[in-house]
Amino acid sequence: MHINHNHPTIVTIEKVIDETPTVRTLVFSDEIMSTVLPGQFAMVWIPGVNELPMSIMISKEFGKAAFTVRKHGPASTGLFNIKVGEQIGIRGPYGNSFDIKEGKLLLVGGGTGLVPMMRLLTFVKPTDDVTLLIGAKSKDEVFFESLANGILENNTHKVIVSTDDGSYGEKGFVTDLVEKLVNDTHFDAVYVCGPEIMMYKTVQSANTKGIFVQASLERMMKCGVGICGSCCVGEDLVCRDGTIFDGHHLSQNKEFGRFHRNKAGILENY
Ligand SMILES: Cc1cc2nc3c(=O)[nH]c(=O)nc-3n(C[C@H](O)[C@H](O)[C@H](O)COP(=O)(O)OP(=O)(O)OC[C@H]3O[C@@H](n4cnc5c(N)ncnc54)[C@H](O)[C@@H]3O)c2cc1C
Ligand code: FES
Repeated sequence: MHINHNHPTIVTIEKVIDETPTVRTLVFSDEIMSTVLPGQFAMVWIPGVNELPMSIMISKEFGKAAFTVRKHGPASTGLFNIKVGEQIGIRGPYGNSFDIKEGKLLLVGGGTGLVPMMRLLTFVKPTDDVTLLIGAKSKDEVFFESLANGILENNTHKVIVSTDDGSYGEKGFVTDLVEKLVNDTHFDAVYVCGPEIMMYKTVQSANTKGIFVQASLERMMKCGVGICGSCCVGEDLVCRDGTIFDGHHLSQNKEFGRFHRNKAGILENY
């Protein structure tokens, strides 16, 4: 069967899970989306509202996938408010995926940046020793902690939560914890997805120690397929060349961690 990844498939939302007051997971059936590689994304059409890039979330049920959305501007709020039985359009999957390494792995996720980390956890080998750091502003914004512990139940593992205000888990920025962990332990690979400052500091910490590191970048996206140029970060198009980039490559990129482009394509400081 020929599949046109650029033609939206219409799916019906079958289940809505409230993760936090502002984050929801919407589950739907789609064989292709249920088997994507960790880090891949889809362009999600919310009829009458807009189209948004979204990481493809795992589902416990065979043949199903999901999106985990944080209510923010008009488009994500439109998706957040979709009810069971309503329809959305999906095109993709797009983007590359994390290189799966073995051994002692450190995964770092902030907010909905945890979505690709959950799929990556389903790819770890039983012999891998996995540490997952979950960064959140406060206790109300922590999600996927028990899901991650469940996925990793047969591995040597740790799931560590840190909140900026100390209302749950460790107190402070997750990047301080990253720095401490990479200084104390030899990791074979570090993976990060979340706010850019978090990714920038994590990449710096790992690069300093010579540890293999990959980050999944987020930029303003319109086409999702390398045509419009709205997602550029330096010379790279995040949708076509990424979204995942190696730490060494990112250390050469003068925009990563410093600038992004607004909806008009104008370069702004982070
Ligand atoms: C690869 C990728 C994966 C993502 N995965 C998730 C996820 O799993 N869950 C989640 O909640 N959010 C995710 N996002 C962010 C999400 O696409 C929206 O940007 C975010 O929800 C803000 O949308 P909004 O409602 O404020 O947009 P609005 O202010 O309504 O703006 C809508 C338009 O701006 C674009 N836009 C605005 N901000 C961004 C941005 N930061 N990145 C890209 N496009 C933007 C949208 O494409 C859209 O056309 C992802 C972004 C990317 C690039
Ligand atoms: S979103 Fe159009 S080139 Fe990447």
